[in-house]
Amino acid sequence: KKVDNLTVTWQTPSNIALVKYWGKSEPQIPKNASISFTLNNCHTTTKIEFTKTLPKKQAEFELYFEGKKKDDFKPKIAKFFERIQKYCTYILEYNMVISSENSFPHSSGIASSASGMSAIAMCLMNLEKKLNPSLTDEYINKKASFLARLGSGSASRSIEGPLVVWGNHPEINGSSDLFGVKFPHKVHPIFEDYQDTILLVDKGEKQVSSTVGHNLMHNHPYAENRFTQANENLEKLSKILQNGNIKEFVNLVESEALTLHAMMLTSNPYFILMKPNTLEIINKIWEYRQENDSNVCFTLDAGANVHVLYPYSEKSEIELFIKNVLATYCQKNHYICDSVGFGARPIL
Ligand code: PMV
Repeated sequence: KKVDNLTVTWQTPSNIALVKYWGKSEPQIPKNASISFTLNNCHTTTKIEFTKTLPKKQAEFELYFEGKKKDDFKPKIAKFFERIQKYCTYILEYNMVISSENSFPHSSGIASSASGMSAIAMCLMNLEKKLNPSLTDEYINKKASFLARLGSGSASRSIEGPLVVWGNHPEINGSSDLFGVKFPHKVHPIFEDYQDTILLVDKGEKQVSSTVGHNLMHNHPYAENRFTQANENLEKLSKILQNGNIKEFVNLVESEALTLHAMMLTSNPYFILMKPNTLEIINKIWEYRQENDSNVCFTLDAGANVHVLYPYSEKSEIELFIKNVLATYCQKNHYICDSVGFGARPIL
């Protein structure tokens, strides 16, 4: 079908890995499988206005971020388009005006690449669907995840929800290194509507970009063991998510977070991405858990901020604990309340 002009808007979420992806080979092939909770409140909304032009050699676009022209983000997006143009040649036949905004503050230390790249991918797939109306939703989600992966690996896990696996794994039917798939098994009700409060310990720019970070796993003395362990952890977590053993969940998820940081402590060059308050928070969470027979736990990204994870049934107590205790370790007492969500949605 012929399409001359089209404007589409998609909202896609961020995600938080439970078993971490750290280490890849070209082109964005993960060294181990990972699994994440899709988030709900932390998301990017992206509008793309497509206008038909004569075919170009490379994608042409303008970029607006939160209403302002943003040329410093352009190279990253240009590289993304270059990588994906062979899978969607139609982007060379349109001028694109991209306008994007995040629901979370820009300088919060929350990575926006997962939500940002997946939002662009969904907009492109929306155009592809207009050009070829016979495409199924399943195909669209798969290809959107495939494209998003080429922008940022973890973005492949931001199309669907509530739990997404990326990376080929024998335990997960249909899993692939090329795109994320919804966790295929029935999940125990204790993990439904799981809560994630993000404590903003350090709102600065990331100390280690993820490109540099993943490269640290090349020639890393513990790399091979780590990749094996991650795949084993995914298998364990798959069982835990089904049987509801939340104590084992807490143990595995915290261990994954600390192992991710251990990889950075033991690479060359080496990095300490936690801040003193990250450790204060972890200790407070451990104390609280012991004293209150709670199942609250933490996970970390490649930074100092702490994701506090807890079941819906503990929401009111943990919210108080966060407000009264943990918030004091955050920059300007700032934290973001989120919970598990269901993935990309069109904005009409
Ligand atoms: O998608 P990237 O290349 O920004 O890598 C993300 C890596 C971690 O956030 C640290 C872990 C993960 O699996 O999301």
